[in-house]
Amino acid sequence: MDGSPGMIAEIETGDPIGVFDSGIGGLSILRALRTRLPQESFCYLADSAHAPYGERDPGFVEERACRALELFLKLKVKCVVLACNTASVVASQRLRSLTSLPVVAIEPAIKPAVQMSRSRVVLVLGTSTTLSSASVEKLLQAYGGDVRVLLQACPGLVERIEQGQISGRATHDILEAALRPGLDAGADVVVLGCTHFPLVMPEIVAIAGPQARVIEPSDAIALQLERVLPSRSAVSHHPLVRYFTSGDPLRFQRLLAMLGEKETEVLFWKQTEG
Ligand code: DGL
Repeated sequence: MDGSPGMIAEIETGDPIGVFDSGIGGLSILRALRTRLPQESFCYLADSAHAPYGERDPGFVEERACRALELFLKLKVKCVVLACNTASVVASQRLRSLTSLPVVAIEPAIKPAVQMSRSRVVLVLGTSTTLSSASVEKLLQAYGGDVRVLLQACPGLVERIEQGQISGRATHDILEAALRPGLDAGADVVVLGCTHFPLVMPEIVAIAGPQARVIEPSDAIALQLERVLPSRSAVSHHPLVRYFTSGDPLRFQRLLAMLGEKETEVLFWKQTEG
C-alpha cells in the first residue's frame, strides 16, 4: 500500500476533509468531527515517522505541515484541519499563504478557561513548542487578565501515547508530575493544549479530582469546521475515513484498533522528498 497519487486516484474520495497530526493525537479531534459532520469524508494523516513534534525545531514542523498540505491537495480535500496544537502555532500562517482552502487550526483554550475559573488559577498542558509560542503569548496578553495561567509541558507523555501506553504506572507518574504543582497552586481549570492528551482523559480526570474541570477543544473545532466548510452540497452518501501514516501502517492500524477503530485500512504516506 502506498499514498502516491496514482494509488489515491483509484479511490473515490468524495471531497474529503484533511486532518493532520504528528501521530494519533488528532484522532481525539477526528472523533468529534465525525460526530458533528457524519456525512463528510475524511483523510487522516499522521506523520508518525517524525512524532513527537513537541521538542522539534519549529522550522522542521513547518516543513512537515507543508508536505502534509501537498498530499491533501493531491487528495483534493476541501478543507484542512490542523488537529495538532504544535503544528498550528508553527505552521498555520504559512499553510494559509500556500492555499486558498480553509485551514482550521487549534490553539490552547485559554480564553474559555479564564472565563470559567473561579479560583483565578488555570493550568495549561501542552508541548514545549506550543507553550513557548508567540500564539500562546498573544492569548495570554489578550485574555489572561488577572488570572494566573500556569504553563506546563509533559515530557515523555506524547511518546508513551504513541506507543499505545494510554494507562499504566509510567503514564500516571508523568501526568501526576505535570498536574500536581498546578493543582496544589489552586488551579480549577486544566486546559489540554495538545491533542494527544484527551486520549488519556480518564487518567487526567482521576488526578485532577473534583476540584478542577478538564477542558479540550474537539467540539469547538468541529463547530468551527462546520462554519468554514465551503459547501454542504458536496457531502458523500458513503462517507469514508481513510488513514495515512509516514510510519508503519500496521503499527498505526493496531493503535487505531486499540482506540476502537477496527478493520481500518491504513495507507503508507510515501514521499519522494522532505
Ligand atoms: N498532538 C500534537 C499537539 O497537539 C503534537 C504532539 C507532539 O507530537 O509532540 O501538539
